[in-house]
Amino acid sequence: MAFFDPEFYRGKKVFLTGHTGFKGTWMSRILIGAGAVLTGYSLAPATDPDLFSMADIEDKMTSVIGDIRDLSSLKAAFDKADPEIVIHMAAQPIVRDSYKDPVYTYDTNVMGTVNILECVRLSKNVKSFLNVTTDKVYKNNEWEWGYREDEPLDGFDPYSNSKSCSELVTHSYKASFFSSEDAPAISTARAGNVIGGGDFANDRIIPDCVRAARKGEDIIVRNPYSTRPYQHVLEPVCAYLMIAQRQYEDRKYASWYNVGPDDCDNVTTGDLVDMFCGKWGGIKRVDRSDPNAPHEASFLKLDSSRLKKTFGWAPTWHIDTTMSKIVEWNKVWFSGGSVPEIMDRQIKEFITR
Ligand SMILES: NC(=O)c1ccc[n+]([C@@H]2O[C@H](COP(=O)([O-])OP(=O)(O)OC[C@H]3O[C@@H](n4cnc5c(N)ncnc54)[C@H](O)[C@@H]3O)[C@@H](O)[C@H]2O)c1
Repeated sequence: MAFFDPEFYRGKKVFLTGHTGFKGTWMSRILIGAGAVLTGYSLAPATDPDLFSMADIEDKMTSVIGDIRDLSSLKAAFDKADPEIVIHMAAQPIVRDSYKDPVYTYDTNVMGTVNILECVRLSKNVKSFLNVTTDKVYKNNEWEWGYREDEPLDGFDPYSNSKSCSELVTHSYKASFFSSEDAPAISTARAGNVIGGGDFANDRIIPDCVRAARKGEDIIVRNPYSTRPYQHVLEPVCAYLMIAQRQYEDRKYASWYNVGPDDCDNVTTGDLVDMFCGKWGGIKRVDRSDPNAPHEASFLKLDSSRLKKTFGWAPTWHIDTTMSKIVEWNKVWFSGGSVPEIMDRQIKEFITR
């Protein structure tokens, strides 16, 4: 069962930042399929190969290539689109890259949020705004409980911390400019580690597995014992569409929401890689810790009770199904099959389950 109504999006004007990325491309494919009038604003795809080009969506939407740090360029694209619904995903999302370039990371993730909120503030027609942040926004106490939405926001590394700041910017804009009954509904969503077909980023575990599998090499794992809330990309993407829809219909639903998997799906990176190897066949994992690696949290879990209680939401695919879908997607791609077709098939299976 879908937790959002694809029909709701038919004819709706949606502005999505980060549409050329991993999550953004999956969301764009869903929105285009639902009949939304979609404008995306992002940098050009940064990986080779890249999912955006494979997904066959560019000519079915208005795709604007621009920098989120450039307010005048963003505002020109925004005003032209005149959206009712805005979903903000554009970000520098890699922890290790944030250690290499903290200034760019803060600039993009914090001032990018200010810039998109400025566009919303100056628009007359936006009814629903969702800022996509992350599970890493919380001050990590390395404890075994899941973080709840009212816990301190204080990410450790520049990426996590820039997303904590992005949350705070959103909170301030909501309190300062969007408190009246006719103002847009404003939410943030803090999702777990997202995996799925079509992620080609550096320094993420499933893309590392896929690259190794393609070459028939062992998979090198840096942090086999770190536990993360892994979830299929369609879980948060569909939850974002649910929140954006429901708060559009009734602004009482605007809030800060965790979007995490069930407890049984918080697995270690080592177990995750073993699962991939088991389903792929013929490859194995090799643990090789890096003594010079920058700090990364070793235990992270989200409590998604608010999302569940408010909307009756629950995760759709457990980790075993998620891994089967990743392997299925990549085997189709490896063998030269149709990427748009496998995306649509997996979206349909997910939404109608
Ligand atoms: N992938 C995950 O595990 C995960 C988990 C939690 C939250 N998130 C968040 O979800 C969002 C999407 O992540 P993703 O995994 O799709 O990342 P991605 O790297 O695949 O996509 C990032 C998108 O942001 C755009 N972008 C980056 N810098 C930009 C800039 N300066 N100007 C304009 N656009 C810019 C890119 O062009 C791309 O479209 C991000 O906000 C990320 O922080 C991701």
